[in-house]
Amino acid sequence: MTLNRQQFLGLTAATTTAAALPVEGSLRGVAGRHGFMFGAAVRSGALIADPRYRALVTHECGLATPEGELKWNAVDADRGYDFHRAEAIQAMLALSGVRLRGHTLVWHNALPRWAELALASPETGRRTLADHIQAVMAAWRGRIDSWDVVNEALDPGEADGMRRSPAFRGVGPDYVEVAFRTARDAAPTAELVYNDYGLEGTDGRSEAKRRALLRLIEQLKSRDTPIDAVGLQAHLSLEQAFDQPSYAAFVRKLSGLGVDIHVTELDVADHSTEAVPVRDRRIADRAEEFLDAVLDTPRARSIMTWGLTDLYSWLNDWGRYYRRDLTPARALPFDASYRPKPMADGIRRAMRGAPSRAA
Ligand code: G3I
Repeated sequence: MTLNRQQFLGLTAATTTAAALPVEGSLRGVAGRHGFMFGAAVRSGALIADPRYRALVTHECGLATPEGELKWNAVDADRGYDFHRAEAIQAMLALSGVRLRGHTLVWHNALPRWAELALASPETGRRTLADHIQAVMAAWRGRIDSWDVVNEALDPGEADGMRRSPAFRGVGPDYVEVAFRTARDAAPTAELVYNDYGLEGTDGRSEAKRRALLRLIEQLKSRDTPIDAVGLQAHLSLEQAFDQPSYAAFVRKLSGLGVDIHVTELDVADHSTEAVPVRDRRIADRAEEFLDAVLDTPRARSIMTWGLTDLYSWLNDWGRYYRRDLTPARALPFDASYRPKPMADGIRRAMRGAPSRAA
């Protein structure tokens, strides 16, 4: 979809009518008063087609991440950059003061076929990696000031904890460092973030992944790699045990390595067959318990959910993540009719209850 001038102006006009200041009690309003940012992953198609969704996003979010529109396979599928879908998001949100986060520059799961081959080759890997980071960050300089530079580089199944991705194979084990150095050169004032998932459980795999993450950040810091923050994705599940004290200790250790902390993709999946109000309550409790553990750290800066309403959740898109009874997931703070759920209250309570920090 390409926006013509008339459509672009239409979108811009639509956003001028939205509230430019956060409304008291909204998630972005509460976040702002307690020194945090709140936001969500958003979809360009839904923002264009669904004015109620657009209004909900601008009301509740101070931050937004394009859910897929800035991924490598979305912007450079055929060797030639095209940012029109991400630009549509920017056009719709900028006038409401919603800031964009960039997701993501290097991710094995979102590579166009040509880049997968080029990255995996020792002859072309480094150049391909650097060219992509430079091109995207230069195009968005001044418009996006925080980037997930590398996403999901860890694999707790490997002895060294590093995923055998195309970039790992072609560039070498130091590709994460190369990516961050390139990113700093490309946009010296942007915040550079490492983002990963699967860190919350009490099982051996989650524990190994937490150790691998601490090791990675420690190594990067010991080599003066320009990394500013870690993104904890937080795709939580009611079926997975969560130990709040040990997770809080992990986050403290992580931030002690000299990085800020962001919750980047919070949602709570469940397969419970209990009544909806019971499920919603348990989902809210889990989100709040998780956030309490993270926000305890003064360096925790922002909370983003992966989608805002259950209507647009990846958990309802992919067959392999469907609930066992095939009813829709209720993983997000607003239901499919845009009504706030207990999870929204849980997020607000966690922000209000966090140790105070400079706003
Ligand atoms: O855009 C095409 C469309 O043209 C086509 O008709 C359709 C048919 O399948 O596919 C569409 O692309 C899909 C895209 O989402 C946009 O909807 C892809 O198939 C699908 O794989 C893609 O899924 C996204 C996934 O990342 C992979 O990029 C999910 O929406 C998105 O929620 C998910 O997000 C990830 C984070 O980036 C990283 N952390 C985990 C998180 C959840 O998996």
